[in-house]
Amino acid sequence: MEFTVKSGTPEKQRTACVVVGVFEPRRSSAVAERLDEVTGGYISNLIRRGDLEGKLGQTLLLHNVPNTLCDRVLLIGCGRERELNEVNYRKIIAKAASTLNDIGAMEAVCYLSELTIKGRDISWNLRQAVETVEDALYRFDQLKSKKDAARRPLRRLVLSVPRRRDLTAGEEAARIGQAVAHGIKLAKDLGNLPGNICTPGYLADQARDLAKAHKSVKVDVLEREDMRKLGMGALLAVARGTHEPPKLIVAQHRGGKKDEAPVVLVGKGVTFDSGGISIKPAAAMDEMKYDMCGAASVLGALSAIAEMGLPLNVVGVIPATENLPGGSAIKPGDIVTSLSGQTIEILNTDAEGRMILCDALTYSERFKPSVVIDIATLTGACVIALGKHASGLLSNHSPLTHDLLNAGKASGDRAWELPLWDEYQEQIKSPFADMANVGGREGGTITAACFLSRYTKKFHWAHLDIAGTAWVSGENKGATGRPVPLLTQYLLDRAAELEKTKRAV
Ligand code: BES
Ligand code: MN
Ligand code: ZN
Repeated sequence: MEFTVKSGTPEKQRTACVVVGVFEPRRSSAVAERLDEVTGGYISNLIRRGDLEGKLGQTLLLHNVPNTLCDRVLLIGCGRERELNEVNYRKIIAKAASTLNDIGAMEAVCYLSELTIKGRDISWNLRQAVETVEDALYRFDQLKSKKDAARRPLRRLVLSVPRRRDLTAGEEAARIGQAVAHGIKLAKDLGNLPGNICTPGYLADQARDLAKAHKSVKVDVLEREDMRKLGMGALLAVARGTHEPPKLIVAQHRGGKKDEAPVVLVGKGVTFDSGGISIKPAAAMDEMKYDMCGAASVLGALSAIAEMGLPLNVVGVIPATENLPGGSAIKPGDIVTSLSGQTIEILNTDAEGRMILCDALTYSERFKPSVVIDIATLTGACVIALGKHASGLLSNHSPLTHDLLNAGKASGDRAWELPLWDEYQEQIKSPFADMANVGGREGGTITAACFLSRYTKKFHWAHLDIAGTAWVSGENKGATGRPVPLLTQYLLDRAAELEKTKRAV
């Protein structure tokens, strides 16, 4: 999709379609009113007759609108003006995008970007519009032999800004929106690819492709033998059950000063989680191809910031493996030694995510990070606690918690904090090793984070449990690309903050 930003009156647009909003009950938006004036009351007439109530997501397509230069006008219901918030704005834009795609308007001029959302500026509107349109038109059909894509898909969208002096900020926002959208698309594609294609080796190749595409990105891949030499006993333990070679992918975006401490993003890359010897039930087990969505979000965020050229140092660390049962697989009761030297009693081979993450977290120490954020589809318990709307957030540093929660709010990719109190640590005591890899049913998301907290004592750290947010099940099954929006927003905020302190010096 190609996006451009423009300011100008709707009747003068020589385009296949002009898109404007109508509020409920039957109330024109500012742009619709303008169009109504030049058309001699054409729009208000239709609305008065009851053709469009203005309910959120309603649409009405008009042909041959008098005194306009466009082929068609698409009216979109925006709901009640008072209730126009971030979530509804996104719904309105998504509806416009899918309608334009269906009606064969290959290009259009959209005025919905001029709607006023409380507490948000034109830059936010434009960026969200770009991300939402790309999200709404996303299809994963690369593995279908016959594609049922639209015959005349939407290719070019002009987003309108109210004043000429909004153009510069608007264009910059659209550019950032596109970079984020590309990162989201990468994360979705990787998530949706099946386990027989998206293997640890495939993830490594994707990281290498990023390095080829962007000068700022460098990639290093550690093989099984490298991990053995380092002593990554926990990661290697999980990888014992499969013939697929495990990888530890290290991808760096060097956009900041050489000596500037990086943000390290650690992403769980289990390309298929059968549970191992503690095997999962068959129902919906196919969804465990999504168990690498943490890894995908790290690559997506790196792609986004590399495309933006963000002046920041960011390291992505991705432990990648399958979790399968097999003759050499780990068994309940096995005890292994992690890279940190701490020993782990494996009571459940299905708690594999924390095992591969703990070695990747210890490995992250070598980058002398300013903060470390791990992202993982870690626990079914998180889906029970928060559902599919918020990612779980647990951290050992409250300023970092605060920054991540804010980035989630601004990007519409929200997280919610859960406690990481010492009392919960009791649950992962083991009589035979330094810790057990599970802590019972109660507070499963928290005890998983407690496990990780034992490997993150040397730095500021936050953990995002994305088990509920990384993909949706049911009719519209597919990866969401979350939390790429949250992560990139956090990195953008951080770069802006750094810039401010530099200027102050
Ligand atoms: N990848 C799963 C978590 C998961 C399950 C995410 C379902 C999304 C939907 C993880 O490896 C796992 O199996 N966790 C176990 C932990 C348990 C054994 C302590 C779980 O949540 O059941
Ligand atoms: Mn598991
Ligand atoms: Zn898993």
